[in-house]
Amino acid sequence: EEVSMHFQWYPGHMTKAKRAMQEDIKLIDVIIELVDARIPRSSKNPDIDSLAQGKSRILLLNKSDMADAAKTQAWISYYEKQGFLALAVNSKKKNELKQVNALVQKACEKKIERDRKRGIKNRPVRAMIVGIPNVGKSTFINAFAGKASAKTGNKPGVTKGKQWIKLGKNVEMLDTPGILWPKFDNQDVGMRLAMIGSINDNILNIEELAIDTINYIYKCYPDNIIERYELDRESVAASYDEGAINPDNSVALYIMEQIAIKRGCIKKGNAIDYEKASNILLDDFRSGRLGRITLERNEDNANS
Ligand code: G4P
Repeated sequence: EEVSMHFQWYPGHMTKAKRAMQEDIKLIDVIIELVDARIPRSSKNPDIDSLAQGKSRILLLNKSDMADAAKTQAWISYYEKQGFLALAVNSKKKNELKQVNALVQKACEKKIERDRKRGIKNRPVRAMIVGIPNVGKSTFINAFAGKASAKTGNKPGVTKGKQWIKLGKNVEMLDTPGILWPKFDNQDVGMRLAMIGSINDNILNIEELAIDTINYIYKCYPDNIIERYELDRESVAASYDEGAINPDNSVALYIMEQIAIKRGCIKKGNAIDYEKASNILLDDFRSGRLGRITLERNEDNANS
């Protein structure tokens, strides 16, 4: 609730962005949607489903280099069952993006076949990249289009000002991505977006966010956190305090204190600087120093 409360500017921006996207979508054959592989559900805006009606859909789980590979695979299967062509990518590795081209061709098989039947040959497939802010759209466009690409410029019949990037002979891509704001269906979605750093930290309770992050990582990836901060496994386990105000957070609080002690987050009078320790933890997670972690699962009854 705290998170969504601060997003009252959302509707205005959203309406404008959505309207622009609606226009753009008319021009394209395939929508390439980027989500964050660490939160494949919360970083996916369901609005695109209604905007994309009748178009081929590709879903790229970006930043897969930071996510748990097995979980990424499970999410790919999950989205494939929903009719997407899904692929894990790392937009920072140009040479890993070749598979995307094959996927675009596959996504447009029907259109190419339709064209062929109507006697139209070699009409390029048109693609558009969409996704929430910070998911990696610009990085992807730059890497995928590469140096070899050329802007095709304005063409008759195309909305003025739209730039298309040519990818080989067969694909053209709109050079401006469609931006979708995240959708806060519930507080968990907001928290997960905040954990990966997609929401400005200034509007959040950073300590609460860090505690939630520690809780999740300790539960699902205990070795990652224990090894990173050289924690004593037994002491961590023993820190569970049934009598605490919030027993569920007692272990996370202990871990936070250990991080603070080990990283010198101590204020005057020997008090623990929780804010500083929280920032260290979140920074370590967001930069991948805590290892490859996925914050959402798609199995039944599991954290999603
Ligand atoms: P956007 O257009 O969707 O808003 O996202 P953008 O491309 O600006 O990417 C946001 C951040 O995510 C950038 O980091 C970018 O380098 C990083 N990024 C994009 N794709 C990947 C990926 O597949 N893996 C990893 N690990 N990172 C990715 P930044 O810190 O803001 O900038 P920079 O310091 O990396 O240049």
